[in-house]
Amino acid sequence: MASHLFDLKKEIAELKAQHGALILAHFYEDGAIQDIADHVGDSLALAQWGEKAKNPVVLMAGVVFMAESVKLLSPEKKVLVPDLAAGCSLVDHSPYAKYLAWRLAKPEALCLTYVNSSAEVKAITDVCVTSSNVEKIVAAIPKDREILFGPDRNLGRYVAKKLGREMTIWPGACEVHVLFSERRLQELRLKYPNALVIAHPECDDGILAQAQVIGSTSRLLEEVKNNKVVSQFIVATENGILHQMQKARPDATLIQAPAEGSCACNECPFMKMNTLEKIRNALRDLSPEVSVPTHIQKHARVSLDRMMALTDGRAVDWPDRFKDPKLF
Ligand code: 13P
Ligand code: SF4
Repeated sequence: MASHLFDLKKEIAELKAQHGALILAHFYEDGAIQDIADHVGDSLALAQWGEKAKNPVVLMAGVVFMAESVKLLSPEKKVLVPDLAAGCSLVDHSPYAKYLAWRLAKPEALCLTYVNSSAEVKAITDVCVTSSNVEKIVAAIPKDREILFGPDRNLGRYVAKKLGREMTIWPGACEVHVLFSERRLQELRLKYPNALVIAHPECDDGILAQAQVIGSTSRLLEEVKNNKVVSQFIVATENGILHQMQKARPDATLIQAPAEGSCACNECPFMKMNTLEKIRNALRDLSPEVSVPTHIQKHARVSLDRMMALTDGRAVDWPDRFKDPKLF
């Protein structure tokens, strides 16, 4: 078993060198995958690394929308994924035709869409956001513009409340983060009164109300790394992140927030579709590759470019009204 793993890692390293490939991994991947990646990060950092890379080939060990972001920002690169079926419940909860109808009902509003969305949905979006730049981006929206926010209702409600900004919010949710149990978290806090509760904003309100720190995966990791006053953390997000947290703080006790019942609910089934074998195969076959039709890419890129500009503190122009690009 150990020698099989050794051989697999060696093969991946050789194929990576042969194709000049960059391997990016999200924090929710298995530790073994994170350990062979060139960079491990949150969805914003992965898109930034993917865009800046000089490599002709990028393998995204994450979910497909993350690979699509890299492809949209750098169409000239070959962007591989270990498994094209690695979707996201937020993508499933925001089908294009329904999102378009919602968007068309308020053409004068600006539409903010979480990157956890399809390329088609990004194409009818004014600006994308991630959980690490959402506050900055909402704060940059002109005060006289109405805001449509989708597809994650929890992220939308959290940021609307925090910034005191009204928004019309699409009702989607992440199937992993909504499973944490408010009641069981209360019990756990009684058992570990000194623990700090840290939560991803995709969690329901009852979980966020109990959290001292709310943020993207990289923000939660940073808290564990830097908050040396605390040595116990209750973590309300997908369990893959514990790998980097434990590496950064071997002294800390990391406790996973509980779900109702005894399921392995804090595992994202999509992220966990990726394996080292599939990564080896993708690098060997240069497939599966993500592709976005040119007419969709042209429009979707605008919303990602605006996100990158606002993240870096650059100004952007806003359209006065939404014009349906009639993609299909
Ligand atoms: P981050 O942007 O915080 O990495 O979150 C991505 C995600 O899919 C959370 O479920
Ligand atoms: Fe999508 Fe949720 Fe998985 Fe993140 S954890 S990729 S939001 S299903």
